[in-house]
Amino acid sequence: MPAPSDIPNGTDSETNAASPAEEAAAADEFTVTPYAVDGEIDYEKLLERFGADPLTDEQIERFPDHPLLRRRTFYAGRDVDDYLEAAAAGDPHAIVTGRGPSGPMHLGHVLPLYLAKRFQRETGATVYVPLSDDEKFLAKDQSFESIGEHTRENLRDILAVGFDPDRTRIVVDTADADVIYPIAVRLAKHLTPATVEAVYGEQDTVGLQFYPAVQATHLLLPQLVAGRQPTQVPIAVDQDPHVRVCRDVAAKEALPVDKPGALLGRFLPSLEGPGKMSSSGDAPSIELTDDPESVAETVRTHAYTGGRATLAEHRERGGDPSVDVPFQYLRFFFEPDDERLERIAADYRSGDLLSGELKELAIDRITDFLADHQRRRGELGSLETELEPYRLTAGERRRALERAGVPTGLEA
Ligand code: TRP
Repeated sequence: MPAPSDIPNGTDSETNAASPAEEAAAADEFTVTPYAVDGEIDYEKLLERFGADPLTDEQIERFPDHPLLRRRTFYAGRDVDDYLEAAAAGDPHAIVTGRGPSGPMHLGHVLPLYLAKRFQRETGATVYVPLSDDEKFLAKDQSFESIGEHTRENLRDILAVGFDPDRTRIVVDTADADVIYPIAVRLAKHLTPATVEAVYGEQDTVGLQFYPAVQATHLLLPQLVAGRQPTQVPIAVDQDPHVRVCRDVAAKEALPVDKPGALLGRFLPSLEGPGKMSSSGDAPSIELTDDPESVAETVRTHAYTGGRATLAEHRERGGDPSVDVPFQYLRFFFEPDDERLERIAADYRSGDLLSGELKELAIDRITDFLADHQRRRGELGSLETELEPYRLTAGERRRALERAGVPTGLEA
């Protein structure tokens, strides 16, 4: 029996399936693909479109406790129970969450990494962090030198998170091509242009058409290195298409792996209001290397608030935390204490707390977080030395290629 497909309209014969971008435009709604996020995202409707399930209260209980889950920033998933069972039983289980190194990392980029760190600490999850420098070279108007520069800076931020090197592997597509490329080729055999178009919309180059096979490789790597095990992929919703493609091609190639799951997250709102936090340079954002003064300055001048136009009106009618970006930053991640967060919301709604005061609270929490992150970043030695314990060993590379059934051409 053929495995059920995760890709609606993704079969080879349906060459005329509308691309997600076209569908969204036709329905005058929103677009969410790895290469385009547009419009006001309806996160619930997205689950229907993608075929993922909302997390239940019971599932959230069984995960390690974290505000990103408790407050449902990560709000949906695929195959979550298998992962939770393995974690509870002390069986091998893995997390894959990567980074596209097209620029400096900002606050939104580290949320899944810190979540992965919590999982690793509490249940011993193996964590893989792939960097898709190939993808960003293809998708962005940048030279390899420039992408390489961002890759090295991003690696410092990833190392500063503080993963356990015994249970963590960091791979860079171009630097670890010896293992990634043969596996990606095997997976690409089942990735047709029609599927790519149905899932991602039209791609500018054949490079980007191939890339989904590379990200599928990332998602299978923990199992190819260390054997079949539940794998979860905590990512913002725009990356789910890669998970669906991986699930589909892995089944078709009958590799000795389980389909990877997914833990889907909402976007941290941009400072200027709802929507994806921009890394394109035109909208202001908070980078992981920003000093406290520039964080304060950025929040004070750019953060969208839910406050009233005048002081008198604010005192009288109160503010709206649900649209207030400084409050949302506290809620997403930076104020882990639920009671304190509730009190801040109540004071804001009643008008006791002013927008300016709420901004200062957010500035304090964000700069505290950044001070710790930056201290660990500053303590790192040379990148080569620091990265070494996180790289795949020769044995791990060999085992992954063997399990994937792709011995290199020079081997007898
Ligand atoms: N494509 C992702 C991005 O653009 C980065 C990435 C590469 C990734 N491999 C991954 C994310 C695996 C999650 C899992 O941001």
